[in-house]
Amino acid sequence: MDQVVRGLLRAKKAVAFTGAGISAESGIPTFRGEGGVWDKYPPSRFGNLLGLSWEWLVNPGRVKDFIKDVLEAFLQAQPNPAHLALGRLEALRILKSVITQNIDNLHEKGGCHKVIKIHGSLDRARCSRCGALRLMGDQGLREIVQNLEMRKGRRVGFLKWLGYLLGECESCGGRMRPDIVFFYEALPMDAWSQAMAEAQSCDLMLVIGTSGIVYPAAQIPFLAKRAGAEIVEINQDVSPLSRIATYRIEGPAGETMGKLFSLLESKNFREWG
Ligand code: APR
Repeated sequence: MDQVVRGLLRAKKAVAFTGAGISAESGIPTFRGEGGVWDKYPPSRFGNLLGLSWEWLVNPGRVKDFIKDVLEAFLQAQPNPAHLALGRLEALRILKSVITQNIDNLHEKGGCHKVIKIHGSLDRARCSRCGALRLMGDQGLREIVQNLEMRKGRRVGFLKWLGYLLGECESCGGRMRPDIVFFYEALPMDAWSQAMAEAQSCDLMLVIGTSGIVYPAAQIPFLAKRAGAEIVEINQDVSPLSRIATYRIEGPAGETMGKLFSLLESKNFREWG
């Protein structure tokens, strides 16, 4: 911890790369592992649009359960000490950006302003035709949860049903879809190029709560490492990224980041900086 705090105080540009583990203490389940999203809803059926379209034909109730579970977890979650610590590190101008694979909005709620969301954002809808984005916010998502049961939807295909739920595009009248990246889809180009640029120009990267097995996202810490950055991994478990970590802190992200920030704030450590 001491060495990581010294590293943060020394860093000219610290960047964070986060995954589902950072939001676990906020009550949002991770994807993998026991009790994870993919445990309950296998990714072959629920993690991609083709799988979801098929599931919708044979078991629409299960698709609605999936959407409801994901949205309710999102709506109930509040930032935990890890999100808040990153927000405060940004306010101190130590942290320059957060690159996240998460589709929740807890980094923003935790006080971070430069959040690069490489897997999209659950509270945004995107037009399938012209690409226009619409922020739905918590209120929009609450309405979707309420409307899930009102839309019978057995007779229409999954994407059309989603379009009914999300409404038409205000710019071109096209069909809206969630602005998130499903398996087999490309990452949003702007976010991905920004993420690569941030990784290649930082001198310290906090890698928090990611299994590091989903590509291309997992390339980010490797890009930072190759550019000479120190890598600090904070995770409950060992991951494939552990081998490139300069420092590893094994433990829950919220608790660990809370302690790390208190240590950084303490006068002694400021003097070290
Ligand atoms: N604190 C720190 N780490 C934790 C905690 C916690 N409280 N709880 C779990 N972890 C760790 C796990 O050990 C694991 O390494 O967080 C990681 C979570 O891994 P995943 O569930 O695979 O989440 P993530 O790495 O974000 O997944 C990447 O996979 O399915 C896709 O698009 C989805 O963005 C997601 C991507």
